[in-house]
Amino acid sequence: MLVKLEEIEKDFTTRIEALAKEADLLNLKSEFLGKAGKLSEVLKGLRNCSPEERKVIGPKANAIKDLIQTQIHKKIEALEIDIINKKLNENAIDLGLRKGRFSSSLSGGGLHPRTLIQREIEDVFLSMGFEVLDGPHIEDDVHNFEALNIPADHPARDMQDTFWFNDPSASDGKGNLLRTHTSTIQVRGMKERKPPFRFIAPGTVFRCERTDASHEFVFNQLEGMMVGKDISISNLIYFMKTLLKEIFKKDVEVRLRPGFFPFVEPGFELDISCLICSGKGCSVCKQTGWVELLPCGMVHPNVLVAGGIDPAEYNGFAFGLGLDRLVMMKYGIDDIRHLNSGDLRFNEQFKSY
Ligand code: PHE
Repeated sequence: MLVKLEEIEKDFTTRIEALAKEADLLNLKSEFLGKAGKLSEVLKGLRNCSPEERKVIGPKANAIKDLIQTQIHKKIEALEIDIINKKLNENAIDLGLRKGRFSSSLSGGGLHPRTLIQREIEDVFLSMGFEVLDGPHIEDDVHNFEALNIPADHPARDMQDTFWFNDPSASDGKGNLLRTHTSTIQVRGMKERKPPFRFIAPGTVFRCERTDASHEFVFNQLEGMMVGKDISISNLIYFMKTLLKEIFKKDVEVRLRPGFFPFVEPGFELDISCLICSGKGCSVCKQTGWVELLPCGMVHPNVLVAGGIDPAEYNGFAFGLGLDRLVMMKYGIDDIRHLNSGDLRFNEQFKSY
């Protein structure tokens, strides 16, 4: 009988190998374990065995029964998983991103350092009650010059080399222009609101200039304006110092020099000590140890009038922060041309959200 049992086991293990359908497996199971199954047939003969033989054959038969049951169960389960996997593969959508053209490994995105700083400054000013305004890149002569107290033929126009659009119908052939500063937004901001008000206006500006380590012809400024009653230079200095402290997380050395801008009177240049070379002298500070960061001043009465505001009743301050310079100082970048380079190796250094 033992031999027979072993044959049954062998028979089963070879037959199950060949099967790949659930129904066939169930048939095989009943062929061996069913009432008239092969194993049951053998066990019927157990009656004629001696007690000693039964002690050996009984457990062996049970072991084979277990084996058949678990093997069938395992194989059916594996078949079901195969079917599910096949279905998943058929309907699969590949959401993966292939290795990039520029990067050798997959990496997450990040924000440009200018965006990081701009957001930080916006937060500081929003917390001090300022609005954040925007304006068009393409402007007309009035918003870029006239309303800012820079009439036609005024020599101050030469301070800002301008990209003009051609206009054959104009006497000088000049039409609109690419704004040379964000002060254009001052004009729009004043016309649209009544004092008191305070706003900042970040944006890209354009100047027809040669590029070098500290000059780009496309760069970014952040304009600021506050108009109300009895605004003073101390208010201006307070807001500027607060801003610089927040950005650099420490007190930064500043100096005010008189500066000429037709739209402010008095006008100042606010310099900060060069944080790249700690004031020793480098290409960014042109070996002076100081970086011109922030022209500012008290709004010229003519500008208030052009903005529809009575200078007898109101006054205010304005400033134009060089956003790219500030980025360079904060992160120790020694060449402004990196900022617009689009080089991901540069951008990837500033991964913070
Ligand atoms: N608009 C000036 C410039 O770009 C900067 C400035 C703004 C100066 C506001 C004074 C006040 O040169």
